Amino acid sequence: MFSEPGLYLVYGYVHMNKVYNPSDSDAWRALQKLAMEYRNDYILDYFDGDSERVDHYSIDLDGLYADFSKHLINDEIRSHLQQLAEHSPLYERRDAMFAGESINNTEHRAALHTALRDPDFDNEDVATLVVKQLQQMSDVADKIRTGRWLGVNGDPIKHIVNIGIGGSELSPKMALEALREFADTELSFHFISNVDGEPLKTLLGRLDPGSTLFIISSKSFTTKETMLNANTAIAWFEQQTDIAEPLGAPNFIAITASHDAALNLGIPESQILSFSDWVGGRYSLWSAIGLSVCIAIGPTRFHELLAGAEQLDEHFMHAPIQENLPIQLALIGIWYNNFLNAESLAVIPYCERLTFLPDFLQQLDMESNGKQTTLTGSLTDYDTGPIVWGQTGTNGQHAFFQLLHQGTRLVPVDFIGVISDAMSTDTHHRTLLASMLAQSAALLTGEDNEQPHQQYPGNKPSTTILLNTLTPYHLGMLLALYEHKVFCQGAIWNINSFDQWGVELGKRITTELLNNPKNQTLDPSTKALLKRTNLD
Ligand code: F6P
Repeated sequence: MFSEPGLYLVYGYVHMNKVYNPSDSDAWRALQKLAMEYRNDYILDYFDGDSERVDHYSIDLDGLYADFSKHLINDEIRSHLQQLAEHSPLYERRDAMFAGESINNTEHRAALHTALRDPDFDNEDVATLVVKQLQQMSDVADKIRTGRWLGVNGDPIKHIVNIGIGGSELSPKMALEALREFADTELSFHFISNVDGEPLKTLLGRLDPGSTLFIISSKSFTTKETMLNANTAIAWFEQQTDIAEPLGAPNFIAITASHDAALNLGIPESQILSFSDWVGGRYSLWSAIGLSVCIAIGPTRFHELLAGAEQLDEHFMHAPIQENLPIQLALIGIWYNNFLNAESLAVIPYCERLTFLPDFLQQLDMESNGKQTTLTGSLTDYDTGPIVWGQTGTNGQHAFFQLLHQGTRLVPVDFIGVISDAMSTDTHHRTLLASMLAQSAALLTGEDNEQPHQQYPGNKPSTTILLNTLTPYHLGMLLALYEHKVFCQGAIWNINSFDQWGVELGKRITTELLNNPKNQTLDPSTKALLKRTNLD
């Protein structure tokens, strides 16, 4: 199943001494055949053939339950998908990731976000550092929550503005919204990400500088949007307070893996919260990037978030393949993506507080696995990461569900629901959950009708994930589940899920357009648009 290695043996480039190519494997070829054979099967028939199908195709783990019985997958398909995983470098890469090996081969570093939630991490230096950073974050959060972190005029902090983008915004914003039930209501939180000046200008117009804390969140501390927004906030603060060195005021905190860059900007040492470069931006919620969440829900609950993720880490490491949630979800995705030509995955949380989850998962999945280059540096001859999209139900039902029910494309759906929600009312919550279950049932069963336009073909696959409650612990589990699912798919596709070189070219051209708009090497369309937008 492996072609001969043509490359120097570097970790991750080879597997079992052969260059690994998933599409050149017996399991892959078998799955191609099975796709031809079974693609027109009815999922409902699988239930008739196996009265225990729901049990056989679901996993229940400590308050997180996943039902994947509504998929076009039978035992034979599942067995070959598992073979695909078992003959891939998945386990080697998983163990290497957890051990802190340098698995991000293009940036030459580890991807060790799991250490941030493992109090017993097996490397003293890393464990000590993680404990120290978590303690510093907890201390800052405690001081702010108890009114002991005072702004420039001696006022307690009331407004917290996180300035950051990508992983430095999406993850804390998503988690803070999800955990609103536990948030301190005396504090208000704001997220500024886009370089569009309007949101910041409007927000600043409403803020009192003394009681506002700006958290400049950037792993690199070079991101154009974040640095421009930070500088605008600094200038505003200086103008409002008339103090000569605004960054020395306790109204600014930097969170970064580039400690020196924050120091150079003028942020005092005591106001810099660091994390390590082995924490990827989209995996950084668990680090100091989670500060706004920690301030909102308090350190104890932030620890519960970490504990939930750690529980999922343990499960991923030790559960046998058939009971392994992230591996099973990854294999389902691969089945549709690589063998049944699905191009996207819809994620529909039935909980309004999970409103930013689809955005977060979009970055997690598409920035991790939107790759065409394998670990050996060749181009893949198979598709990799899907287009991930979605929004909360029931809203989505009144927008794009038409296409899911009667459109021509195959779109697997992840439904995510919360069984018990103290924040809602019984009537609303029952209706919400019933709506979710009705959608997955309608997609599966469909309905015949004499009128063609009223026919529902059905046989549309979905996974339903249920959390007992939307607590920090269960949110931690859910997020780690998706992190590891994405990781498993990347390992099977033989790509590096931890870099993001694809975003660099656009950044460089932006700089070029701003610095040298008369550049003659630009394409004619862009030149004309520069003129029309007065940028030339
Ligand atoms: O440009 C992509 C990216 O690097 C993301 O991976 C990252 O989450 C985001 O930009 C923000 O980066 P930083 O935290 O370094 O400002």
